[in-house]
Amino acid sequence: MDRFYIQGGRPLQGIVRISGSKNSSLAVMAACLLGRGKTILHNVPDIGDIHTMAEMLHRLGAEVELYPDGTLCIDAEHFCATEAPFDLVRKMRASFYVLGPMLARLGAARVPLPGGCDIGARPVDYHTRGLMALGADISIEHGFVEAFANRLHGASIYLDFPSAGATTHLMTAAATVHGTTLIENAAAEPEVVELARFLNAMGAHIEGAGSRTIVIEGVPALHAVEYRIIPDRIEAGTYAVAAAATGGDVRIQNVIPDHLNPVILKLQEAGVDVIPIAASKDSIGALEVRALRPLHAVDILAMPHPGFPTDMQQPFVSLLSTARGTSVITDHVFESRFKYVAELIRMGADIRAEGRSAVVRGVERLQGAAITATDLRAGAAVVVAALSAEGESIISGVEHIDRGYGNLAAKLQLLGAGIERSGTSHPLSLVAAG
Ligand code: UD1
Repeated sequence: MDRFYIQGGRPLQGIVRISGSKNSSLAVMAACLLGRGKTILHNVPDIGDIHTMAEMLHRLGAEVELYPDGTLCIDAEHFCATEAPFDLVRKMRASFYVLGPMLARLGAARVPLPGGCDIGARPVDYHTRGLMALGADISIEHGFVEAFANRLHGASIYLDFPSAGATTHLMTAAATVHGTTLIENAAAEPEVVELARFLNAMGAHIEGAGSRTIVIEGVPALHAVEYRIIPDRIEAGTYAVAAAATGGDVRIQNVIPDHLNPVILKLQEAGVDVIPIAASKDSIGALEVRALRPLHAVDILAMPHPGFPTDMQQPFVSLLSTARGTSVITDHVFESRFKYVAELIRMGADIRAEGRSAVVRGVERLQGAAITATDLRAGAAVVVAALSAEGESIISGVEHIDRGYGNLAAKLQLLGAGIERSGTSHPLSLVAAG
C-alpha cells in the first residue's frame, strides 16, 4: 500500500495550478450517455474517480479515450448495456448516476446500490423516487436497483433535502423525456449549474439551475459537444487551507473565486489574508493566500450551497486545531463526517466530536504521527495536519486521496513541502480506456 511521508512545519510558498472539477466531470461524463456522437471534454482531472467513471462508461459500451493533457472523448452511440458492473459502483457513489441515462435511452437498468466514502448512511431514495415520478418501475432486489420504463415522462419532483447527486441525476434523466419536469428544492451547487450548461449545449432545455427550482423541457435527443470542465473548488480550497495552516504564501491558479465565497470568508474571519482575483479576458482566476500564525478560532456550519461546503469541513478542522480559541463545526449535510478526528487527536489535537458536531480547542502545535486517510476528504484533513505539524507523519490510505486529488505530492513539493510517496501505484496515468 502506498504511503505519504511528510516532514511538517515548512510554510508552503509559490504557485499551484488547480485541476478540473471532480464532481462536475463525473456528472457530465454520466450525461454523455444520452448524446449521439463524440463529445470532447477538456480540463478533466487525473484522479481515481475519473478512471473509475471512464471504465464504467467503457464497460457499458461507450467508446472512451482519455489523454494525458486532460482531454476526454466519449462516444455513446453504441451504449447498450443495461447492467452496471458491481465492482465499479461499489467503489464510487457517483457511478450510480448511469441509472437515469440507461433508463432514458434503453428502457431498463440494473445498478447495484452504491458505495463511496464512509460518512454515514447515504441512501438513494431521492434518486429512485424521482425516477419513479418520471414513470419508472423500480424495485430493490438483493442489493441491486432494478428499473424499467416503457416511456419516461415529465413530472413534478420535490427533494426533501437539496441533494447534489439526486439533482444532477434527475436533471439528466429528465432531459430527453416527453414533457416538462420540475425539480423543487433542488441543489444549487456550481456543479449543478455546470451540468445544466453542458446539457443545454447538447440541445437540452433546462432553466433555473443555481436556484431551488429547476425546469426541464424534455427534448427528443441530445448531440455531441466540445466542453471545458470548471476548476475544482474543493481542491482549490484545500490548497488555500494548507497554505494557511503552514503560515505560507501561495498563489492558487485556475480558480473561480465566486465558487469559494464561504471558504474565503471563513479563512479571512480566522485571520488569513486571502485575495480573490477574478478571471479576465487575459488571465484565469486565482486566489492569493498569505497567513501569519497564529490564527483565531471560527465556527463553521456546513450546509448545501451557497453554504459552507461539507467537503471543506475536514481540512478546515485541521487548520482550526492550532487556531487560538475554541471552534464549533457542525455538518448539516452528512450525519457522520467526523470519524477522521481520531487521527488528528493522535497528532495532539484537542477535539471532541459527537454526531454532527465537533468542538475544536486550538493547541499550540500538532505533532507528526502515523495516521490514516479513512476517506477522501479525511485524507485532505490529515495531509493538512501533517504539513503543519512538528516532525514526520506517515500517512496510509493514500488510495482514498488519489480518488480526488491529482498529483498531490508533486504539487505540494513544488510549493516546498517535505513530502515523499512510497509504493507502486503512483503516478496515476491517463490511458486510453476505449
Ligand atoms: C455530492 C458530492 C460530494 C458532496 C455532497 C454534498 C459528487 C460525486 N459528490 O455527494 O462531494 O460532499 O454532494 O455537497 O458530486 N440523501 C438522501 N437520499 C438520497 C440522496 C441524498 O437522504 O437519495 C442525503 C444524504 O445522505 C446526505 C444529503 O442528502 O445526508 C446530501 O447528499 P448529496 O447532496 O446527495 O450528496 P452526494 O450527491 O452523494
